[in-house]
Amino acid sequence: MSKFCKIFRIIFVVHLLTDVSLTVRYDPNWKSLDSRPLPDWYDDAKLGIFIHWGVFSVPSFSSEWFWYDWKQRGLPGIIDFMQKNYPPDFTYPDFAPEFKAEFYSPIEWASLFKQAGAKYVVLTSKHHEGFTNWPSKYSFNWNANDTGPNRDLVGDLADAVRDYSLKFGLYHSMFEWFNPLYKSDAANGFKTQNFVKSKTMPELYEIVQKYKPEVVWSDGDGDAPAEYWTSQEFLAWLYNDSPVKDTVVVNDRWGKNISCHHGGFFTCADRYNPGKLQTHKWENAMTIDHYSWGYRRNAPLSNYLTIEELLKTFITTVSCGGNMLMNVGPTSYGRIVPIMEERLKQMGEWLGVNGEAIYGTRPWSHQNDTVSKDVWYTKKKSATGYTVYAILLQWPKAGTLTLGAPQTTTATVVSLLGYQGNFNWSKGPIGGIEIKFPLIGWNMMPCKWAWVLKLDGISN
Ligand SMILES: *[C@@H]1O[C@H](CO)[C@@H](O)[C@H](O)[C@H]1NC(C)=O
Ligand SMILES: *[C@@H]1O[C@H](CO)[C@@H](O)[C@H](O)[C@H]1NC(C)=O
Ligand SMILES: *[C@@H]1O[C@H](CO)[C@@H](O)[C@H](O)[C@H]1NC(C)=O
Ligand SMILES: *[C@@H]1O[C@H](CO)[C@@H](O)[C@H](O)[C@H]1NC(C)=O
Repeated sequence: MSKFCKIFRIIFVVHLLTDVSLTVRYDPNWKSLDSRPLPDWYDDAKLGIFIHWGVFSVPSFSSEWFWYDWKQRGLPGIIDFMQKNYPPDFTYPDFAPEFKAEFYSPIEWASLFKQAGAKYVVLTSKHHEGFTNWPSKYSFNWNANDTGPNRDLVGDLADAVRDYSLKFGLYHSMFEWFNPLYKSDAANGFKTQNFVKSKTMPELYEIVQKYKPEVVWSDGDGDAPAEYWTSQEFLAWLYNDSPVKDTVVVNDRWGKNISCHHGGFFTCADRYNPGKLQTHKWENAMTIDHYSWGYRRNAPLSNYLTIEELLKTFITTVSCGGNMLMNVGPTSYGRIVPIMEERLKQMGEWLGVNGEAIYGTRPWSHQNDTVSKDVWYTKKKSATGYTVYAILLQWPKAGTLTLGAPQTTTATVVSLLGYQGNFNWSKGPIGGIEIKFPLIGWNMMPCKWAWVLKLDGISN
């Protein structure tokens, strides 16, 4: 064979191999599905916005579990609320016509999420109440087009969010508390699949084909196994043949005991924040309201997380390899109330100065410092290796801050994000680094909460 021929053959083989890797197909079992690499955009994004919106936003009392807590659990507070404020024959579906979304401006929402520094948005397409926020072919009457807002809440937000170059995702509840088909499947020990075949799966295929969500955030396994839900078949289709097969990410709530074990990123539990490095990509799904995901009209200020609490949650999450999905509950009339708007804008204000230490970063060898409390680390590739970011939840009380984790070199340079000039430093007595803080006027501070030291030329 001539040399030319050999080169050609090598190129051909390489080409063939690349082709094979591009057309890898996944089988409907967890081993195969779990082998799919998570698309990079997700780990780079770090912050998403979660939106809980539905008929529960009309009573906007207690929580998004209002219907269940009223009729199934019989919470006295809800029974009392209904007795005092509604006629005796009033049913939960009677709330739907009051879900009017008359001030809903998807563009305003998307603009706010962009200002918050979020990179993706996840909307409840349907919560456990079963009401679909899109005009589903599989939902007669109990959907946002046929009653209430009389519009496609999902499609309108998808367009606006994409206009702002954010990724659009959809939350979807597999089970529905009171759906008779679900209840009869449950009564049969999930040996029948009438509900999943006529409702859950048709809806999931419908929203993926119609809205091409880049996050499919499943919830509500209703204690039924993944085999009942046919989750593995759905995910194989999603990864192999769906319109979002190359970019979509999914969570882990696909059946009983699947969460924290299988799927895409792990959510494990609500407000999951383990405080140490995780081996698998994860997400901290949390809400600005301490007690609810849906809007509550009677929530006082103290029920909302402060910006300091939000940033602490966010920073510890990112240091340990997680993303944060921060939830807002809009009102039934379509507004994100000013307290949540303010929190979102404060996040954006902080990220505007310090985003370099967040977006596109990866966990460092240490998550928190070994000497100073409330210091959390991230790292990012730089021209000379890695830049390490030390995020301080407290401004140092003395003029010097000692960090135990970073090992210095003669090339070490320390600066503060958003502030001109480098800081002086010296090697600590037992390794580590002592950083001298210059006096900075309060009106010259780069930001109001959580400050970031940029450490270049660190040896570990
Ligand atoms: C939404 O409702 C309108 C008015 O009833 C109807 O004309 C339209 O076909 C519905 N859209 C879908 C997608 O079902
Ligand atoms: C849950 O799933 C994990 C991993 O598949 C398994 O190790 C564990 O035994 C399961 N737990 C229960 C209670 O079934
Ligand atoms: C760092 O985190 C670990 C684990 O949460 C904790 O035990 C330790 O006290 C923290 N270190 C400091 C200096 O706060
Ligand atoms: C760093 O130390 C030098 C020499 O002591 C001093 O002149 C300079 O002002 C210091 N810079 C800062 C930012 O503290």
